[in-house]
Amino acid sequence: MRFITFTFLCCVWLNVATQSRRFLIGLGEPNSPDINNAKHITDEWFEQKLDHFNPIDNRTWKQRYQINTEYYKEGGPIFLMIGGEGEISALWMTNGAWINYAKEFNALCIQLEHRFYGKSHPTDDMSSENLVYLSSEQALADIAQFIVDIKIQLNISASSKWIAFGGSYPGSLAAWLRMKYPHLVHAAVSSSGPLLAKLDFYEYFKVVEDALFGYKPECVTQIKNANQMLSKLVTSDKNTNYINKKFKLCDPLDISKKKDVSNLFETLAGNFAEVVQYNKDNRLSVTTERRKLTLETLCDIMIDESRHSPLDGYAAVNSKFLSVNNLSCTDYTYDNFIRNYRNVSWNSESAAGGRQWTYQTCTEFGFYQTSNQEEHVFGNKFPIDFFIDMCSDIYGKKYNAELLSKGIKRTNMMYGELNIKENRVIYVHGSVDPWHALGITETKIPNTAAIYINGTAHCANMYPPASTDLPQLTKARITIRAFLNEWLTTSDSLEIYESDNIHFY
Ligand SMILES: *[C@@H]1O[C@H](CO)[C@@H](O)[C@H](O)[C@H]1NC(C)=O
Ligand SMILES: *[C@@H]1O[C@H](CO)[C@@H](O)[C@H](O)[C@H]1NC(C)=O
Ligand SMILES: *[C@@H]1O[C@H](CO)[C@@H](O)[C@H](O)[C@H]1NC(C)=O
Ligand SMILES: *[C@@H]1O[C@H](CO)[C@@H](O)[C@H](O)[C@H]1NC(C)=O
Ligand SMILES: *[C@@H]1O[C@H](CO)[C@@H](O)[C@H](O)[C@H]1NC(C)=O
Repeated sequence: MRFITFTFLCCVWLNVATQSRRFLIGLGEPNSPDINNAKHITDEWFEQKLDHFNPIDNRTWKQRYQINTEYYKEGGPIFLMIGGEGEISALWMTNGAWINYAKEFNALCIQLEHRFYGKSHPTDDMSSENLVYLSSEQALADIAQFIVDIKIQLNISASSKWIAFGGSYPGSLAAWLRMKYPHLVHAAVSSSGPLLAKLDFYEYFKVVEDALFGYKPECVTQIKNANQMLSKLVTSDKNTNYINKKFKLCDPLDISKKKDVSNLFETLAGNFAEVVQYNKDNRLSVTTERRKLTLETLCDIMIDESRHSPLDGYAAVNSKFLSVNNLSCTDYTYDNFIRNYRNVSWNSESAAGGRQWTYQTCTEFGFYQTSNQEEHVFGNKFPIDFFIDMCSDIYGKKYNAELLSKGIKRTNMMYGELNIKENRVIYVHGSVDPWHALGITETKIPNTAAIYINGTAHCANMYPPASTDLPQLTKARITIRAFLNEWLTTSDSLEIYESDNIHFY
């Protein structure tokens, strides 16, 4: 499923049981040569309000967080890693670029899990009625409440500076936290965060295409030819046996089921999306075989002249994808996908993040990665209506186009799209990461930075440095450090804002 990829959601604790990676977003785990180095990190629990916007609702739940005091020295700042659309990993408490900064600045490190993900369960299950408490606004208020209370619990000085970190959706949250609660967070490092909510995120596959084209233009031509051939094949029943075999479909294709056809095209396009979005990053949660899959290797398969047709190349890429994920067949039926996502149990496979994140897309963000024109590289089989229907098929009839478009407008009204006017935020993006298309890659706001890295993928700057890093990625990490240094050492009186206090009596 191109879903939030389960691969995206990362990681080792997930059996990648499906190709599901719908709406592909998310940070992986940091690559660590020693997986035991986070062994001493324990789960802590914070008593959190269920509804921050209703003072007479006193219900509470237990929110998970992790803390590492190893690098902290009296007077040091507090670094807060914001959790997002998946379970938090203790490996981030001892690994990653932010840990290197923490060592240098003597920071106390805290990671807070996002409500409704991982083990942070505000309600008995994930029914649509309960998911009304799942929103970015509630999550930001959770963080604010947490900061206020934990300062008292841990005897953290009022003068300690808090710096928020986050990658992917938490990158958006880090920027929004600084905007909505500037009295609580001194600065933020927002990596790969989409800040513009958008229903039809067609730009996503455009970036994928550009990345593939940048390697070899023929690669894009071959993918386009393959999609056009497949589009022709799905017009006749006679071809279904051929397609079943070629693409190793788990269930035989029925071309009269339009949503199955859409899901199939989307799944096959998703193979490329997943590889491009995470191209050559330094995630732990991938096997050696998966690590070898890069946009270059996929393109080499596509343009290999020993194959008979572009369709053979497209099928070979899919087989490769199945094999590195230990999948025996392509699970593409719409019914399987919907049935999975309708499961409201915390024990279900979709509780890894699929059901929750998709709910947030249906009520707050959109972000649907469409392809809707015959002449597009990935064809015209998964237009926006496919995704809009998905919302009502999963959560109920009222989750329709109108609710969705109002939700997106509301999000943009609340957070200011790409016109955020806050200072002391670093926005970081990579050119190969499709999410940069919805983020801030340039800014004119004083005391703020936008870093755009040519050639890197989703959240690349957050992972631990590797010998294979591009020089511009290394430079980006150094630049982030320089801004942190400035913001942690400059006293507030040197701020650019001047103020007048005029009292009339
Ligand atoms: C919440 O409010 C209800 C009704 O006012 C009260 O009975 C209950 O004791 C309160 N619970 C807590 C945890 O304060
Ligand atoms: C809290 O911190 C302050 C200053 O660092 C210290 O003087 C005080 O003893 C601490 N209180 C507790 C209860 O640890
Ligand atoms: C696939 O299976 C092999 C052998 O059992 C294992 O080493 C590898 O980690 C598995 N890969 C994934 C992605 O689960
Ligand atoms: C939901 O998932 C759980 C765990 O996999 C499973 O036991 C249960 O039968 C599923 N519920 C439905 C309604 O499919
Ligand atoms: C980005 O990197 C690519 C590949 O190394 C290079 O061809 C291109 O010129 C670079 N773009 C810019 C704007 O420097």
